[in-house]
Amino acid sequence: MDRAVIASTLPGERPGSPPLTCGERIPIIGLGAGGHACVVIDILRQDGRFEVVALLDRDPRRWGEALEGVTILGGDDRLAALREHGVAHAFVGVGGIGSQEGRRLLVERAALAGYIVVQAVHPRAVVAATARLGEGTTVGANAIINPRAVVSAHVIVNTGAIVEHDAVVEPFAHLAPAAVVLGAAHVGAGAFVGAGAVVREGTSVGAGALVGAGAIVLTDIPPDTVAYGCPAKAIRPVGAGIPPSQPRPRAGR
Ligand SMILES: CC(C)(COP(=O)(O)OP(=O)(O)OC[C@H]1O[C@@H](n2cnc3c(N)ncnc32)[C@H](O)[C@@H]1OP(=O)(O)O)[C@@H](O)C(=O)NCCC(=O)NCCS
Repeated sequence: MDRAVIASTLPGERPGSPPLTCGERIPIIGLGAGGHACVVIDILRQDGRFEVVALLDRDPRRWGEALEGVTILGGDDRLAALREHGVAHAFVGVGGIGSQEGRRLLVERAALAGYIVVQAVHPRAVVAATARLGEGTTVGANAIINPRAVVSAHVIVNTGAIVEHDAVVEPFAHLAPAAVVLGAAHVGAGAFVGAGAVVREGTSVGAGALVGAGAIVLTDIPPDTVAYGCPAKAIRPVGAGIPPSQPRPRAGR
């Protein structure tokens, strides 16, 4: 699609304008314009069926910038206008450590505005024929989902993560890069499993729990609990102390 046309047409919202088209490809917008959005844009480009035509982000300072060559048009209030211009597909470009609530709200908003939130599966991910993948789920490069695993809706199986046979990952959970969920293990709704962490076969990570990077989960982690270490120990409730997704101050900044 001609990006100049998008930029000049969409922000002005003219009802009745002809629908946007992308030749053979399906126009899609992204909600959220952070690092994870770059990953999903790349997955969609590798997939080849979609053209990412715009991004929306809640930070007004970023409006007008481009990310991976895609303009950040404005905030969520643009959803209706874009829908009227014929864009019917969306992805959520927000990853996040800890609470996955923000992603849930974005999916809700997109659905209310009439969008289909798409699955984004990297062509070099391996998904077994008997695995089940829910709507809106993202599967990164080199991720593996083995037979009879159930990965529910709006889950992130990030780059190189592995979901072993018969494991169940509930909606909105996020498996960070290289996390491993072993056979018949269970990851609850909205839980976060940190980079390189291992969830032992048959064990359970409770809904909303946060498993730290590199942890080895050998026994069940209660819901809404931060746990880390080898073996992983429950440290504190989620939400107590510094929110993990908050950027930490760096020397010299
Ligand atoms: C678990 C986690 C959320 C804790 O964050 P935090 O509350 O800000 O913790 P802090 O960095 O203040 O560290 C507190 C203590 O816990 C220890 N600690 C923190 N994370 C740890 C981890 N994953 N494993 C072992 N120890 C850890 C620290 O060494 C520190 O120990 P100390 O008090 O003896 O110095 C974070 O460290 C983490 O693992 N995040 C996940 C990162 C990730 O997977 N990112 C992928 C993004 S897609």
